[in-house]
Amino acid sequence: MASVLQLFYIQFSFIVICCMASKPSVRPYIVYMGSSSSSSSSSRDDDSSHLQLLSSLFPSEEGERRFLLTSYNHALKGFSAMLTETEASVLSSRDEVVSVFPDPDLRLHTTRSWDFLEAADSDSRSSFPYEHKRVDVIIGIIDTGIWPESPSFSDQKIGKIPSRWKGVCMEGSDFKKSNCNRKLIGARFYSNHHPPSKSNETNPSTARGSARDFIGHGTHTASTAGGAPVANANYYGLARGTARGGLPSARIASYKVCAEDGCPGSIILKAIDDAVKDGVDIISISIGLSSIFQSDFLSDPIAIGAFHAEQKGVMVVSSGGNDGPDPYTIVNSAPWIFTVAASTIDRGFQTTVVLGNGESLKGTAINFSPLTVGKKYPLAFGEDIAANFASASDARNCIPGSLDYTKVAGKIVVCMNDEANVSRRIKKLVVEDAKAKGVIIIDGDEEETSPFDAGTFPYAETGATIGSQILHYINSTKNPGVTILSATEIRGLRPAPVVASFSSRGPGGLTENILKPDIMAPGVAILAAIVPKIEANYGAPGKKASAFGIKSGTSMACPHVTGAMAFVKSVHPHWSFSAIKSALITTASTSNNIGKTVSNTSDSPANPHQVGAGEIRPIKALDPGLVIETSITDHLYFLCYKGYKQRTIRSLSGTTNFSCPAGGAAEELISSLNYPTISIGNLSLRDGPRKVKRVVTNVGSESNATYVASVDAPAGLLVKVAPSKMVFRQGVEKAAFKVFFDGRRASKGYNFGHVSWFDGSHLVRIVFAVNVV
Ligand SMILES: *[C@@H]1O[C@H](CO)[C@@H](O)[C@H](O)[C@H]1NC(C)=O
Ligand SMILES: *[C@@H]1O[C@H](CO)[C@@H](O)[C@H](O)[C@H]1NC(C)=O
Ligand SMILES: *[C@@H]1O[C@H](CO)[C@@H](O)[C@H](O)[C@H]1NC(C)=O
Ligand SMILES: *[C@@H]1O[C@H](CO)[C@@H](O)[C@H](O)[C@H]1NC(C)=O
Ligand SMILES: *[C@@H]1O[C@H](CO)[C@@H](O)[C@H](O)[C@H]1NC(C)=O
Ligand SMILES: *[C@@H]1O[C@H](CO)[C@@H](O)[C@H](O)[C@H]1NC(C)=O
Ligand SMILES: *[C@@H]1O[C@H](CO)[C@@H](O)[C@H](O)[C@H]1NC(C)=O
Repeated sequence: MASVLQLFYIQFSFIVICCMASKPSVRPYIVYMGSSSSSSSSSRDDDSSHLQLLSSLFPSEEGERRFLLTSYNHALKGFSAMLTETEASVLSSRDEVVSVFPDPDLRLHTTRSWDFLEAADSDSRSSFPYEHKRVDVIIGIIDTGIWPESPSFSDQKIGKIPSRWKGVCMEGSDFKKSNCNRKLIGARFYSNHHPPSKSNETNPSTARGSARDFIGHGTHTASTAGGAPVANANYYGLARGTARGGLPSARIASYKVCAEDGCPGSIILKAIDDAVKDGVDIISISIGLSSIFQSDFLSDPIAIGAFHAEQKGVMVVSSGGNDGPDPYTIVNSAPWIFTVAASTIDRGFQTTVVLGNGESLKGTAINFSPLTVGKKYPLAFGEDIAANFASASDARNCIPGSLDYTKVAGKIVVCMNDEANVSRRIKKLVVEDAKAKGVIIIDGDEEETSPFDAGTFPYAETGATIGSQILHYINSTKNPGVTILSATEIRGLRPAPVVASFSSRGPGGLTENILKPDIMAPGVAILAAIVPKIEANYGAPGKKASAFGIKSGTSMACPHVTGAMAFVKSVHPHWSFSAIKSALITTASTSNNIGKTVSNTSDSPANPHQVGAGEIRPIKALDPGLVIETSITDHLYFLCYKGYKQRTIRSLSGTTNFSCPAGGAAEELISSLNYPTISIGNLSLRDGPRKVKRVVTNVGSESNATYVASVDAPAGLLVKVAPSKMVFRQGVEKAAFKVFFDGRRASKGYNFGHVSWFDGSHLVRIVFAVNVV
């Protein structure tokens, strides 16, 4: 770590020298100054004090252009501003400054959702008993804004707005105060805080000038987390059922941070600061940094914001990213964030391909093909209709520019999908542009999890086996013909859930001593509210724009967990969010609907780096028996063990007397933080057993309970729990236990298993991941 920082420093000073010589260029930076709790100044004072700080440091003639973009002053302290690199480095050496970093551009976690569709439905998996309305829960959705006219945000049967709500409904170009109601209680946007646009192409003043959603993502996530029940919701007839959020009585506050030109980190941080001030209970963020550029916790706006939200009692739930299935791709992996992976549900969309010889084959996709079974169209393989000079492998993959357009027109084209670098969307555009009649995409070994939404274009996607049947047929006849029929829905798919191949995988790149992702939830082909305009281009022609749409991504999984948390909170208003997080984690399921371990798309049992503790079971989480709560002090110790300076941690926490435990930085001690799962990134084959500790709290309805431990561990890894029995009674709600891991006879690499506590009715599963080196 030290050497990496050093390297950074060397490069950094070089850049400073280089740029002082030439004309200094400015760009937006975030200047993070720790907790706001030590400061008593009001927000207006903070703006001027930040300006003062800037002009005292840089009393230049250029004062005007160094404008302050935004100030953070509720949950945390700091600002964002246009600075040169030199100015940023001067600022970062100030005592009151914790970190200074270029304003990163984050992305929505549905890069594939334009490709995909979703189907939340009325089966038990995604429906929670919404009659259970107990207390009000306010969910803050930090996303692309909201489409307030959606029936999912109707306030029928919803009581008056809780008096603790201090938020606003900001009027914008096409958004009135009356667009908010007792369901959608708040809406904010950030046109004035936005860094200057990089290009002239988009018109950010319109897109950012109101809380209205033009993309559809924020409307979808908000309705999944807390949408009202809407009977007979469907996407042009597909996925018909009652659409509803995890807690249909939840209040929703929308914070629009993303537009077509991106999601600036500085605005996400501002939105978290506002949401905490407004009085939300839970924040849902389906956005993240790229997994390739994982940054330190102190230069990740979501990690910083979530830390301060948690200090104020607000939980942040985030998507883990769509960069799977490779390991180390999980993002939003700070221990104080609830990190979500995505799974399929038991509903899929099937498209039938009928060959000229009458054979009928099954593919997947969502399409509203106008073709009928009666008429066949010429069928051609991309490789056989290559453009001059195009390579055979490019043509078989329908890479842009690789096909001979004159030979494509009027045909249904077969394209391989074994080059991961060109998306299905692009392949479809390539053949569509060349006036093809349709396309059949054949996947390689790795199956795509998410059905592609092709709109009215005849589109089918098949696995390798059916794909080779089609290729054989092409070879077997002189004039191959084919047709692609409109998609139908299939229910009761088995097995389900399956881990989505796109879902980002652990272990976490910043520490392997906390298990990430935490949990898994449905994120493939989820039906929820959308922006009707957008999907108008997609649905069957002549039909009214659909109010619901099907999307996939960890973006869609995240609000399922947000909704589940809101549901548990509404029933147990006195439980901390850390207790609720633990309840969802220790009651999660690792088996599927055929009674086997949840699998991944290569049909192997999925491990905790893919699914975390497993698929959420919100109703089970109402009665977990025991919970493992992680305190704010645990998180501060985490930062100590990671090697942050005590001074920095004091600024972060707003305490002047916090002290790191003796012993200082020690990665391996992170394993003993009171987290509801266990991860050991580094268990030596040579050393003796490693001990981790946990403290549990009995939240069961019986104050008298006796729990007995059991262990499920792979052969060779010795796992011992002490004590092996815990007895709770009135006045004795907490107990501690230790787990000893001895890897001397274990196989190298990650070993997975779990420790379970059982009292006759509650099963408390604590998953572990232990890397034997
Ligand atoms: C943006 O507009 C300005 C003035 O209209 C022009 O000078 C500049 O070249 C444009 N930039 C881009 C990237 O098009
Ligand atoms: C993607 O793969 C194709 C086929 O191998 C290759 O021609 C192309 O250069 C690749 N593109 C990128 C961006 O790697
Ligand atoms: C189809 O024929 C071509 C050329 O004869 C051959 O290279 C290819 O392997 C055949 N494909 C199948 C699936 O039989
Ligand atoms: C599925 O899991 C197995 C073992 O857990 C792993 O080897 C394989 O790479 C995984 N495949 C995917 C697509 O995640
Ligand atoms: C820090 O000081 C506060 C009051 O000033 C006190 O409540 C708290 O216990 C102290 N914490 C430590 C770790 O000494
Ligand atoms: C793992 O342990 C070895 C030796 O005990 C140590 O050198 C290495 O830094 C550790 N790695 C991590 C990631 O903790
Ligand atoms: C719990 O146990 C104590 C002592 O064993 C007993 O006195 C008490 O009645 C029990 N309470 C309940 C609710 O069973």
